[in-house]
Amino acid sequence: MEGCFFRIEINGLFKTSLFKCLNDCGKITLTCLRAERKTMTEDIERVLLTEKEIQSKVAEIGRRITADYADKDPIFIGVLKGCFIFMADLMRNVDVRCSMDFMAVSSYNGTTSTGAVKINKDLNQDVAGRHLLLVEDILDSGVTLNYLKHYLEVREPASIHVATLLDKPARRKADIYADYSCFEVPDAFVVGYGLDYNERYRNLPYIGVLKPEIYS
Ligand code: IMP
Ligand code: MG
Repeated sequence: MEGCFFRIEINGLFKTSLFKCLNDCGKITLTCLRAERKTMTEDIERVLLTEKEIQSKVAEIGRRITADYADKDPIFIGVLKGCFIFMADLMRNVDVRCSMDFMAVSSYNGTTSTGAVKINKDLNQDVAGRHLLLVEDILDSGVTLNYLKHYLEVREPASIHVATLLDKPARRKADIYADYSCFEVPDAFVVGYGLDYNERYRNLPYIGVLKPEIYS
């Protein structure tokens, strides 16, 4: 049976004695893997922003955008994928005629920036002469948004502004700021409300700090 690997799921009271018995037989080597976590909540060290706090701030930013963009027919440009929940909530709090589009970029692996920005999906329309509002989940080093802003400027829109859910000014490398920012956050890796760690945790309804043991 050399080279065979079985995954056996055993739950209940007899687990420990069964493992001991099998080991004592000397015919089988058991590796005890880390117990799998069952909920996302278990991986969160602390909640930074509650669902209620987020909703109230997003509504406030929505009112500001409504006032600033009356008669401008803006295009909300969501930066995928992190923007998807924020953009949906923000746009429902904006009462002006507007449209939307998405761009997809990649710049991150895990918790560290690769420093390189790659456009995976471009806009589907001509934006010359239009008012653009870039919608981001988090402004961290600023490298992604800075790159996108310059990338879109070439298409001669009437204006480009930035709305971000979170701003981490402590880590800024590029010379860029948000025109609309919901919250400033400390230099910690956060997840939820669209933000991920390796594509997980986007569906948490709040923003939380991830336990370092998850990514270390
Ligand atoms: P930036 O180019 O460093 O400003 O950040 C680019 C992207 O990195 C953001 O749009 C996020 O998707 C991701 N990112 C930066 N910080 C965090 C974080 O704390 N949690 C989750 N994603 C992050
Ligand atoms: Mg991300």
